[in-house]
Amino acid sequence: MRLSHFALLAAAASVAASPLKEHKKRASSFKWFGVSESCAEFGSGNIPGVYGTDFIFPDTSTIQTLIDDGMNIFRVAFLMERLVPTTMTESFDSEYLANLTSVVDYITGAGAYAVLDPHNYGRYYGSIIESTSDFQTFWNNVATKFASNSLVIFDTNNEYHDMDQTLVLDLNQAAIDGIRAAGATSQYIFVEGNSYTGAWTWTEVNGNLVNLTDTENKIIYEMHQYLDSDGSGTSATCVSHTIGQERVESATQWLIDNDKVGVLGEFAGGVNDVCEEAITGMLSYLIDNSAVWLGASWWAAGPWWGDYIFSMEPPSGVAYTGMLSILEPYFV
Ligand SMILES: *[C@@H]1O[C@H](CO)[C@@H](O)[C@H](O)[C@H]1NC(C)=O
Ligand SMILES: *[C@@H]1O[C@H](CO)[C@@H](O)[C@H](O)[C@H]1NC(C)=O
Repeated sequence: MRLSHFALLAAAASVAASPLKEHKKRASSFKWFGVSESCAEFGSGNIPGVYGTDFIFPDTSTIQTLIDDGMNIFRVAFLMERLVPTTMTESFDSEYLANLTSVVDYITGAGAYAVLDPHNYGRYYGSIIESTSDFQTFWNNVATKFASNSLVIFDTNNEYHDMDQTLVLDLNQAAIDGIRAAGATSQYIFVEGNSYTGAWTWTEVNGNLVNLTDTENKIIYEMHQYLDSDGSGTSATCVSHTIGQERVESATQWLIDNDKVGVLGEFAGGVNDVCEEAITGMLSYLIDNSAVWLGASWWAAGPWWGDYIFSMEPPSGVAYTGMLSILEPYFV
């Protein structure tokens, strides 16, 4: 999604006073609470695309605002095709890497966690990634660059879908192995599942991922959950005020039964009473199960979201002004 300069100015002009209200902080036990930082993956139809026209990097000044508000994890989306334009195993485009790295360094320099999120849906130039060894090399190369930064988290890929289930297992394992072989041994690794890594379908689809192994034992199962009727996160309408908890219950049981831990890597709902109640119900349930749920991250912030229904971009994003105070009691 991309907005005209005019729309951005119009949005900026309507900035209200600080959306933060007084509220009581609950006794939280999440390790992470934050947001996905989007826009470096925008314009995926244009590779490499033009900086400032097709894509832009997250704004470190608004990231700082969110850190000041209490967020401590930022999932930074990027496109593999912009980082490695010719083959997955080649060396990086130095400019795109430098821009990505400066955002990551800003976040971790402030003491927050930065999640490296290749926003590729298990695909490279539109084709399902079939070569686990190429994928392993890609991750080995990425991890080499960030091996000394323990506040970086590696997210193997955003939302695998419509792929062979064994391939999803094998790609995640290849990423883990490539990362550890680079000497990046202190970092958490977020693995994602098939079917857009949905929590609501996790047990039906992604049971085989129980077999992932990590020499450092720092695998976190990243699931996503939206609360609209088809679970796609394209509508501001939530199914019911209880749908949040309902959609994460079976995945929670899976984590408990299998002695695993998870993170809700994407979630959102519209700014309205039903969604606010559904989100509060879901987050309360996750925090009640914080032995297996380590955190949650809203979708999404980023400089080009404009009046997007879920925009958490300060100062005027719809969710920043309308939802932040609902989420804040769950901050770390
Ligand atoms: C990197 O960011 C600079 C601005 O800081 C911009 O001029 C340049 O085009 C960007 N390059 C890429 C590939 O993102
Ligand atoms: C995990 O791996 C074991 C050993 O290969 C296999 O028997 C089992 O079916 C796998 N579990 C799942 C849920 O796929």
